[in-house]
Amino acid sequence: MSLAVVTGGAGFIGNHLVRGLLAAEHRVVIIDNFSTGRRGNILDLLVRHRDRLRLEEGSVTDPVFVRRVVRGADIVFHLAAVPSVQKSVEHPDISNEHNITGTLNVLLAARDGGVRRVIYAASSSAYGDTPTLPKTEDMPPEPLSPYALTKLAGEQYCRIFTRIYGLETIALRYFNVFGPRQEPTSHYAAVVPRFITRMLRDEPPIVYGDGNQSRDFTFVDNVVRANLLAVRAPVEATGRVFNIACGERLDLNALVAALNRILGKDLPPRFQDFRPGDVMHSLADITLAGQLLGYSPIIPLEKGLAITVDWYRNNENRTPATETPS
Ligand SMILES: NC(=O)c1ccc[n+]([C@@H]2O[C@H](COP(=O)([O-])OP(=O)(O)OC[C@H]3O[C@@H](n4cnc5c(N)ncnc54)[C@H](O)[C@@H]3O)[C@@H](O)[C@H]2O)c1
Repeated sequence: MSLAVVTGGAGFIGNHLVRGLLAAEHRVVIIDNFSTGRRGNILDLLVRHRDRLRLEEGSVTDPVFVRRVVRGADIVFHLAAVPSVQKSVEHPDISNEHNITGTLNVLLAARDGGVRRVIYAASSSAYGDTPTLPKTEDMPPEPLSPYALTKLAGEQYCRIFTRIYGLETIALRYFNVFGPRQEPTSHYAAVVPRFITRMLRDEPPIVYGDGNQSRDFTFVDNVVRANLLAVRAPVEATGRVFNIACGERLDLNALVAALNRILGKDLPPRFQDFRPGDVMHSLADITLAGQLLGYSPIIPLEKGLAITVDWYRNNENRTPATETPS
């Protein structure tokens, strides 16, 4: 039974990954500072799996703490980050510290702590707004926001640590992940939970821009699957980056229509100004992840949306998480 550390394990994607790792019989240690993560995301797991799951509360910006927790782990999944474009536009220094320095701390701790492999949560935002679709991993990156830059720097650090120090790393570029337990309330929230929670209350979804922006929305179970596959991917996959997505594109107006269909409603969107740093279109080529990781999406888009709607319908009374980055 191997020992996995999940940084950001109390966050949206992190808690799903922890669930997947526990189901696959791993022992797991969560590192989280609860800046955007929630205790409620992992409380049930801490109770149910107290023999195999431990929480270490602290920040990846603290190198001593990270070294202590990471030493002796087999795999580190590094998801901790300030994950917002808008926040990074307002506070690029905070994004830089948590996302770049934090990643460097994790890689140093893994290199020196006998870790076999680090799997890094990279971001499709690295591609920027270049017109060519679908995005392939060999395209030159063009980050448009401090957030995108920090995520790109993290994956480059991973590549360099594999090259120079022989630490196995795999960077997974996620495309617009959605699913249960994603934070819906913050001003910075992602579009799917914002739309769903408003539409459940019969409020019109707010669209920044004209709604023609399109995304490769990826249900969170697909991301968990990619991470689990990355654990046992061949060594040729290390030091590399992979698109992790659905491989389908939906614009925001079509997303509203799909949610209206699932909810049995007919709510028109309310349009507001575009936001700085947002990209227009995004679609992944997932061929490389198929070839080297054996990845393909297991849950298609509409099914993922239906599962997500169901979850928010049954969990409407969650208390908001804190929004202040520490
Ligand atoms: N959600 C997406 O669509 C998406 C897309 C691409 C990449 N990603 C990446 O996936 C990762 C997880 O994102 P998410 O959507 O689950 O966001 P999230 O905010 O739910 O999760 C981030 C977690 O990291 C924790 N954290 C932040 N800074 C920390 C620090 N310094 N030390 C310890 N913990 C810290 C937060 O408390 C939170 O639990 C991030 O690295 C993000 O950049 C997400």
